Amino acid sequence: MCGIVGYIGDEEATPVLVNALKKLEYRGYDSAGIAVLGSGSEGQGDGEKRSLVVRKAKGALKNLEQRIATEIIRGTMGIGHTRWATHGEPSDVNSHPHTNVSGKIAVVHNGIIENHAKLKEWLKESGVAFKSQTDTEVVAHLVDHFYQGDLFEAVRATLDKIEGAYALAFLCENEPERIIAVRKDAPLVIGAGKGEYLIASDVTPLLEYTRDVYYLNDGEIAVLYRDRVEFFDREGHPLTKETTRVEWDVSAAEKGGFEHFMLKEIHEQPKALADTLRARIKTYAAKTINLEEIGFDASWAQAHRVVISACGTAWHAGVVGKYALEHFARIPVDVDVASEFRYRDPIYDPKDIFIIISQSGETADTLAAMRMARKSGARIIAITNVVGSTLAREADLVMYTWAGPEIAVASTKAFTTQLMCVYLIALKFGHLRKVIDDAELAANIDALEALPALAEQLLGKKDDIQRFAARQFNKTKAFFMGRLFDYAVSLESALKLKEIAYTHSEAFAAGELKHGPIALVDESTLVVAICTQSALFDKMDSNIKEVKARGATVLVITWEDEKYFDATADEVFRIPRTLDALSPMLSVIPSQLYAYYCSVMRGNDPDKPRNLAKSVTVE
Ligand code: M6R
Repeated sequence: MCGIVGYIGDEEATPVLVNALKKLEYRGYDSAGIAVLGSGSEGQGDGEKRSLVVRKAKGALKNLEQRIATEIIRGTMGIGHTRWATHGEPSDVNSHPHTNVSGKIAVVHNGIIENHAKLKEWLKESGVAFKSQTDTEVVAHLVDHFYQGDLFEAVRATLDKIEGAYALAFLCENEPERIIAVRKDAPLVIGAGKGEYLIASDVTPLLEYTRDVYYLNDGEIAVLYRDRVEFFDREGHPLTKETTRVEWDVSAAEKGGFEHFMLKEIHEQPKALADTLRARIKTYAAKTINLEEIGFDASWAQAHRVVISACGTAWHAGVVGKYALEHFARIPVDVDVASEFRYRDPIYDPKDIFIIISQSGETADTLAAMRMARKSGARIIAITNVVGSTLAREADLVMYTWAGPEIAVASTKAFTTQLMCVYLIALKFGHLRKVIDDAELAANIDALEALPALAEQLLGKKDDIQRFAARQFNKTKAFFMGRLFDYAVSLESALKLKEIAYTHSEAFAAGELKHGPIALVDESTLVVAICTQSALFDKMDSNIKEVKARGATVLVITWEDEKYFDATADEVFRIPRTLDALSPMLSVIPSQLYAYYCSVMRGNDPDKPRNLAKSVTVE
């Protein structure tokens, strides 16, 4: 949801900023822009006196790159932005950086200034002429309003006026030695290099320059110089902060020979699943699950209920979690999308266990749900992929998914590793509550350990899905249906196809179809029936016959050795056999591949689907 970057050092800032923005483009790609303190080819700056030069362009970053290739800016400090439009259409003028009237102060912003309308009226009354429709432009004019020769103080005064969520970075022509950055409810990381400092919305753009980073907390202000960075609280008191060493492999954030990040990330699932599992399986007398990281001990037996909250794909992982916890641990589970949870006046019990799931750890609704749940005194467990994210830092206990950086907007490996985490919790909990005995626990652990190799086998058959997609990608309507775990996977499958193929797709609990949705089924409909719950095969078979009778084409996804649906389905895609209750970690992969191939065949960019952003840091 917008990416911001900044650089101060001895290198030319423009290539560093553009390079960093490339790594953040997944956060928004409606427009991009940079502001550099230096000299522009149009004659601003005379080599001695440096002036603030801004370049922006609507659309993808490559449009900005084309502009700066001919309109060169030289200078060793600057800020940059890649936009996901919230206020004002994607256009050159609404692109960031935004400047004050004289063009001497520039700002980039990720988030929303909620009281921007009131502030805009107030500024207009004092004679300020606005150029854009954005909420951000008020910030540039406010800093100007308060500026009396000290950018730091002007920024602090501005923070007193603005409400909402923001990560902001500022540059001022009169202060060519420093960049100022602040955050509240939006992510911001500072990279500490040798003789250079950088700012970014996440760590991936920083890894080329440094592995030592500072995570800014809400309300903190960073002042970056070429040789140091200083931190302050909102009142201006100095703070001491420690760097964190990032251990991510740089190549993990590159495409590694795949055409798209999404395809690469789908293929990384066997390794990601193994990584998620590895540290958590211990063999003492017998194999057991170790979840010390989330404080799992006998006190969990006191819990009355588990509540899961998340958004999008992470919510689908929560739906699987509900089925898994109820099945393995026989504990009641409520699962809710975070944007509903935060406003629906939920009933708390201090003995509840809250599980909050988020790949990025920065989703605004999910963070709000977590903060509300905290107040109830319940135990908060975060499942997240991003070390140092706001969720990881604010939750009581964190279980990392260890999926590695997920760049494609459509989540794949983050989902399957979130599933692995919820299964580990469910099995451990079931054992503690004596719902499953040692032998059943061991059998499930063995099955979990076999999954990475099975996922690899499944990916080996991806050409079958590609061929099926080649025949179906123009379908305008796709329904996914299943029962129990297969219903949860249907939800995720339909979302994938919507997100990147722009196909109207819906998920249904298969038994629900005849209560209304079947009215939509006709010859133009593709129905994907996910059939891994053996006890319900005859029910699924009836549902398949019902949609076929209305003209639908039916793809069945089922076990490799299963013949049940051969007579009814138009096509069967077979996945390697695991236990029925663990099926989602495999059964979702064909749908990820199907969505990917349809997206590419329809001429879309699966990594950067229209209207979406990787991390939704606004409500
Ligand atoms: O980072 P999070 O897991 O909190 O993100 C939640 C959703 O925004 C995210 O899963 C979204 O639905 C993805 N685009 C799914 O592919």
